[in-house]
Amino acid sequence: MESAAAAGDTAGTVLNTPLSTTQVAALEAVAGPFESARTPPGWLFTDPAVLDLEAASLFLNDWVIAGHVSQLGSAGACLCVDTVSLHAIVVRGDDDVIRAFHNSCRHRGTRLVETSGKLGPLIRCPYHAWAYSLAGALTAIPKREATAKVDVATLGLVPLRVAVWNGFVFVCAGEPGSLDERLADFPDLSYLALDRLCLVAERHYRVACNWKLVIENYNECYHCAIAHPALHRLSRDVGFDGYRHRGRHFTGGPMSLEPGVATLAEPATRIEPGLTGWRDADRRMVFYFSVFPNLLLTIAPDYALVHYVFPASVDRCTVTTQWLVSPAQAARADCDIDPALGFWDRTNHEDFALCETAQRGLAASGQLPGPYHGWENCVHDFDRWLVQRVFSSLLSASAGTSP
Ligand code: FES
Ligand code: FE
Repeated sequence: MESAAAAGDTAGTVLNTPLSTTQVAALEAVAGPFESARTPPGWLFTDPAVLDLEAASLFLNDWVIAGHVSQLGSAGACLCVDTVSLHAIVVRGDDDVIRAFHNSCRHRGTRLVETSGKLGPLIRCPYHAWAYSLAGALTAIPKREATAKVDVATLGLVPLRVAVWNGFVFVCAGEPGSLDERLADFPDLSYLALDRLCLVAERHYRVACNWKLVIENYNECYHCAIAHPALHRLSRDVGFDGYRHRGRHFTGGPMSLEPGVATLAEPATRIEPGLTGWRDADRRMVFYFSVFPNLLLTIAPDYALVHYVFPASVDRCTVTTQWLVSPAQAARADCDIDPALGFWDRTNHEDFALCETAQRGLAASGQLPGPYHGWENCVHDFDRWLVQRVFSSLLSASAGTSP
């Protein structure tokens, strides 16, 4: 759903190293207390130098979402992860172990796997057919006798760290702490058995905006009454304050369903028996979690909706949306995800159109940061996290510099 108008709107680099005092002030204003904080300056969304910083500090040095474990159900199942900097594959091996590698051949670097799906018994490079086992070992070099003497044991695929959290598979090319440690303060969702959910639908979107705008947009419903007539009719678009989930690397909160509404779908009928473990107290709720940087997890009484947001360039990103249900629901012959799928596909288009419009406004000259609205505390959580994660060294190095 890219709009032609947004194409080519990328501004040149304005980021100074060291940062100018104006830039320091703008970033510090984002990271300040919510009540007095200012929204990010436009260059945070339009400057290629900012994306370079994010590529290095987040996507090459942090835990990045790859997909749901149900996509890796058997040996040879493979997920491709493509961000602006990290290009990885996650593969289930013959020994049932899930491994991750850079998606690049050890011969001349060719991309090995184009899309997620099922591989054969080997990962074979499309260029000269070097072949790797599902565990990443180089097993075949065609016409090897004409190759200089090489030690194949040193030419396996380059491994990445991989971890599974609540059924979601993450990869990491850097050295931060473990994923469990990172999300240790996340609410316990084990009662929902998210790792056992079945993927029943998936949609892919290309959006002409900076990836952070999709994350920001998810984190508030201030726009819901204006942009989402259906969502506004089915649930209450209030701020999350007072009942908010917030931690070091995530934010979120619940919204309640309107009386008589069983779930977020059109028609709003629930797929029984609902998610495993869903508690009576939560039956009127839909939970929204943003796991930084790029996983958005929505839990309705009868399905989970997941968005994976991947930056492609400074003003383009891809979003994959998945609908997951419990095994008991998936086994029903009449399990029908279409009401929830249609509802969210429409809502996605409404959101992404706004994100693209926001991108164009942020790229315009004269754009200045504004105040956050009282319902945007989760947006602020994300913005502040981003500034701290991406700019902390630049901010320290720039202390005391001139404009
Ligand atoms: Fe992969 Fe040559 S680049 S086999
Ligand atoms: Fe929205």
